[in-house]
Amino acid sequence: MHISVTDREPWDVEADVLAVAIAADREPDGALAELDRRLEGALGALRTIREQVGEAYSGTLVRGRDMGADFVLAMGIGDLEAFDRLAALRFGAAIERRLGGRAVRRLAIWLPAALAGHGELDERILGELVSRGIVEGAFEPAAIYRETVPSAPPILDELILVVPGGDAGAVAAAAERGRIIGQGVVRTRRLSQRASNDVSPEVLADEATAIANAHGLSIEVIGPEKATEMGMGMFMAVGRGSDNPPRFIVMRSGGGRATDSRGRLLAMVGKGVTFDSGGISIKPANRMEEMKMDKTGACTVIGAIATVAELAPGVPLLAIAPAVENMPGPHSTRPGDVVRALNGKMVEIENTDAEGRLILGDALVYAERQGATHIVDVATLTGSVERTFGKLVTGGFGRPQGWWDEIVDAGARQAERYAQIPLIDEYRSGMDSWYADLKNSFSSDGSLARSGLFLAEFVTRPWVHLDIAGTAYLREATAWSARGATGVAHATLVELALRGA
Ligand code: BES
Ligand code: MN
Ligand code: ZN
Repeated sequence: MHISVTDREPWDVEADVLAVAIAADREPDGALAELDRRLEGALGALRTIREQVGEAYSGTLVRGRDMGADFVLAMGIGDLEAFDRLAALRFGAAIERRLGGRAVRRLAIWLPAALAGHGELDERILGELVSRGIVEGAFEPAAIYRETVPSAPPILDELILVVPGGDAGAVAAAAERGRIIGQGVVRTRRLSQRASNDVSPEVLADEATAIANAHGLSIEVIGPEKATEMGMGMFMAVGRGSDNPPRFIVMRSGGGRATDSRGRLLAMVGKGVTFDSGGISIKPANRMEEMKMDKTGACTVIGAIATVAELAPGVPLLAIAPAVENMPGPHSTRPGDVVRALNGKMVEIENTDAEGRLILGDALVYAERQGATHIVDVATLTGSVERTFGKLVTGGFGRPQGWWDEIVDAGARQAERYAQIPLIDEYRSGMDSWYADLKNSFSSDGSLARSGLFLAEFVTRPWVHLDIAGTAYLREATAWSARGATGVAHATLVELALRGA
């Protein structure tokens, strides 16, 4: 998809479809009224019969009349008053979804000054997020294992952003950034969405290797013998029940122990459980098929380091993805088994379904040994985070507070939302094991508050944990997104890492 930006008037732009934003709290005025005049009053008539009143992400197609575009897509955006970064991203994605199954090659989107100048937005931010939205909207999981999907979103030859009187050059650069971040999100979503019989730990490592080679990143894949020899007892405990051996994936940009422009080395660590049956502490059958997405954190960090390499090649950065399959079997870890973590702590595995924190604990220790000064981990860690925050807000932990705040700020710029859960050391007592240093699960009360404390046992540097168990996967499609993997946190990590460029 080629992106161009024009400062001409929207009716002068040649396209298959020209998309325009319709606000709920505003009657069409100014240039929108002029467009409506050229449409012989179609927009006004649609408002009168309440077919198109600006309801968020409901779109109506009308035939173009006295203008360069063949059709106009009137896309509702809700109240202009509430239009923000997230709305801009969804506006783009909803346009792409609404055109599913339609023969569209050249799409123009009008970004009027009233939209671009709204709140803390400007035309560059708007261009970046709308173009990212178009790319993300084109993600279609139904096409992963099928040749043809009748309602698939269109593959565009050209996206034309229309910013009358705006700075076309600046918007074009921003839109290009949005396109690259969007492609990275889609890379993460596609990998995360693939089935567990398709993506084993070995296949995930192969995919990471292909991505590394394509992006000039170095990669090391540690197999079970070496991981055992190194002392990754928690990591090795999880994959034992599976025929598909574990892989510890380490990707790197920038040489050796180089630090970034702020004197830091950021490590992004992602949970890569390619299927989580629960192991011997087996899960109920209901919705167990969703546990194919328990590798999403790994897919997020693998996707993000590649995206950073496209936008700022050579920035020192680590992506670490411990990959295992958690299965019951004769070789499985049993509840009550005691293992030695990479940092030497003895851990009693009370519940084999609390496996994410085991593989992440060793990965966090490994990240510090690789010289990481700042760490962020991403994991589908707990069911309780979804019960607490739902599917729209990612819960997380972090210390010191400044490091958590940096991540929330990067997230806000990329329209991603986080809520902080406190790390209260007093809760640590509930994790005591009577004959090891700690155990991996605890009574249900405060279990979410305690999940972060377990991980905290394995880090000494600034660290944030993002629990994406609720936000990584949608059970139903929305007007702006397919069902399935969302790619959440990818854009936040990219934004964060680019600050070290
Ligand atoms: N992968 C699951 C968490 C999960 C649940 C992700 C639902 C996505 C949707 C994780 O490994 C798990 O099983 N967590 C347990 C922890 C418990 C045993 C302490 C949980 O949340 O029930
Ligand atoms: Mn589990
Ligand atoms: Zn899991």
